[in-house]
Amino acid sequence: MKVGIPKELKNNENRVAVTPAGALELTKLQHEVYIQRGAGAGSGFPDEAYEKAGAILLPDTESVYNIAEMIVKVKEPIAEEYNLIRKDQLLFTYFHFASSEDLTRAMLKSGSVCLAYETVEASDRSLPLLIPMSEVAGRMSIQEGAKYLERPAGGKGILLGGVAGVKPANVLVLGGGVVGTQAAKMAAGLGANVSIMDINLNRLRYLEDIMPANVDTVMSSEYNIRELIGNIDLVIGGVLIPGGKAPSLITRDMLRLMKPGTVMVDVAIDQGGCFETSRPTTHQDPVFMVDDIVHYCVTNMPGAVPFTSTLALTNATLPYVLMLANLGWKEACRRNEALGKGLNIINGTIVYKEVAEAWKLDYVEMSAFLA
Ligand SMILES: NC(=O)c1ccc[n+]([C@@H]2O[C@H](COP(=O)([O-])OP(=O)(O)OC[C@H]3O[C@@H](n4cnc5c(N)ncnc54)[C@H](O)[C@@H]3O)[C@@H](O)[C@H]2O)c1
Repeated sequence: MKVGIPKELKNNENRVAVTPAGALELTKLQHEVYIQRGAGAGSGFPDEAYEKAGAILLPDTESVYNIAEMIVKVKEPIAEEYNLIRKDQLLFTYFHFASSEDLTRAMLKSGSVCLAYETVEASDRSLPLLIPMSEVAGRMSIQEGAKYLERPAGGKGILLGGVAGVKPANVLVLGGGVVGTQAAKMAAGLGANVSIMDINLNRLRYLEDIMPANVDTVMSSEYNIRELIGNIDLVIGGVLIPGGKAPSLITRDMLRLMKPGTVMVDVAIDQGGCFETSRPTTHQDPVFMVDDIVHYCVTNMPGAVPFTSTLALTNATLPYVLMLANLGWKEACRRNEALGKGLNIINGTIVYKEVAEAWKLDYVEMSAFLA
């Protein structure tokens, strides 16, 4: 199959969808890999590394879309790319259709087949192509929190781990899923006192078993949050209600219970945020203050560490890319149910219910196309 990897055009997006290692796996199987010059540079992969792996370098986005049967990307196509996508072309990337009607309509019009990373779903309901980015964001939340706790950055001026004779910082992690687990682990590793909250008792039992002694598990409730919050230096928000907006667990009035310079990192901001006072920010301007509390609310945290994020993402996507290249989308989705769940649009028809519902458009069961 002819596999095309364009350079990401979205602002500040430095990840690339296939590494030289992935390109080599594809060319070994006799697939043709076409990559836009400079596509891997932001993640530390020079053009020569792709050439060595047998890929063919192309000068611009247009030539990649022109030749490829399958386009593998990281972020959804942006408006300049819409007209380059053609009928029957397979696109494998993050789409998040439910958040953009323009994108949905453009992809319907293109007649392409859109397989979305974010809806690939394993039989245990986990989302294998979202987990790696949550792992990155969870670990990064502590790094960012530690930075903004420094006095010149607006924080209290407290070192997470303390030193001999001086108490470490207190960290509260809301949500004990992928983000929360990674955050708690990092904070504990730096020596902080960590409390992790979830509403799922089984999850708390598991965390209690695997976490080091400086991590306490606490049932999540407004009462318990209010009890703890006055002594907390860093709050990490990592809750998720699948398919819904995150609940506001820290309300505006609770900010008054906290000490000035406390830092709150709202990782769940991409689902609306779990602090009432959160609003989305960017890597250029990541923080703002409300009532002397530092808010960090960057929606695409993994974008700041493309060297790590690209590898984490492609480790998870490559097996699916190989399956698609070897079998074509129809057969690959027939054989692999998890991958099949990634189908959102097929040749001008929406086959993912939530996307159709989001824009009040027609929907056809995906199975009709796989028969
Ligand atoms: N900002 C970014 O760059 C970025 C990157 C990756 C993920 N995220 C977001 O981070 C959030 C968390 O992702 P995840 O992969 O950890 O999800 P997850 O499903 O693994 O974990 C969410 C956890 O929240 C818990 N929860 C639900 N309601 C709760 C409540 N009221 N109190 C406490 N816990 C509650 C759930 O029981 C679950 O354990 C998502 O919104 C995700 O989109 C953001």
